[in-house]
Amino acid sequence: MKKIYGVIGDPIAHSMSPAIHNDAFRHQGIEAAYHHFHVKPEDLQDAVKGMKAIGVSGFNVTIPHKQNIIPLLDEVDELALAIGAVNTVSWEEGRYVGYNTDGKGFYKSLSDLSEGGLKDSRTLIIGAGGAARAIYFTLVKEGVRNVDIANRTVERAEKLIADCPYECESQALSIAKAEEMLAEYELIIQTTSSGMSPNLDGIPLNPEQIKQGTLISDIIYNPLKTKLLHDAEQRGAVIQNGLGMFVHQAALAFEIWTGVHPDTARMQEIVLNKLGGHTC
Ligand code: ATR
Repeated sequence: MKKIYGVIGDPIAHSMSPAIHNDAFRHQGIEAAYHHFHVKPEDLQDAVKGMKAIGVSGFNVTIPHKQNIIPLLDEVDELALAIGAVNTVSWEEGRYVGYNTDGKGFYKSLSDLSEGGLKDSRTLIIGAGGAARAIYFTLVKEGVRNVDIANRTVERAEKLIADCPYECESQALSIAKAEEMLAEYELIIQTTSSGMSPNLDGIPLNPEQIKQGTLISDIIYNPLKTKLLHDAEQRGAVIQNGLGMFVHQAALAFEIWTGVHPDTARMQEIVLNKLGGHTC
């Protein structure tokens, strides 16, 4: 029988996940279908029960359910629990098990780019919200120890560092302080929504002091080149947009469900076609 997978969220109509997963199932010769399900916050508990009852084999979880799904699952893996958010659920021996592939997807997309390895890179994360939390905890767990966090509201950066369950050397910075120190970092990761379509002029920090050759990664993929990436590139930085993170988090979810690692170049092509652009 054809297995059923999906993504739950609110809103969800514009999700690109069905297109990439359905293509990957076809391409791998796996009998399965992936749907998007519009689930309102007040219906989350019923939705999980319903999916269990009809035998949905796995699903992705997006805004606003990533945190609230946790108590509704039978088990949550260590990293997802530390992050406090689940984006992938898998049906395993009669139990729904939750994972977080966002941070790992990001790490994978970055590792593809950095030949020398990332572990010794002096790193700055801009932002201290949910996305920053997934990326920060994953990087530190993977052994990138020297990671500072700059945020508009410094207290949130301090809290993120205090919450980190893995060994790390980090300091919380104001945006002004981070701008001053920018030349000290080899890797800069932008996790806020500043610069995301339709606010194309948004920029979370002035990249004037960035040094040539610094790797700067913005998790936004719409637009493919944010103002921050554009300005940093003009100063000689190596830039990466959020397409790789999106594709790799999806690929890792696919692998959890099927045991097969899908063709990520194919996934990227589908997303790019939908966005109508070229990667940078
Ligand atoms: P997400 O789960 O997408 O990370 P979030 O938890 O709401 O979303 O966090 C949003 C992050 O973007 C925060 O770091 C926020 O800064 P504050 O903590 O000071 O609110 C940051 N952010 C959002 N809009 C921003 C802007 N225009 N300029 C700078 N930072 C911004």
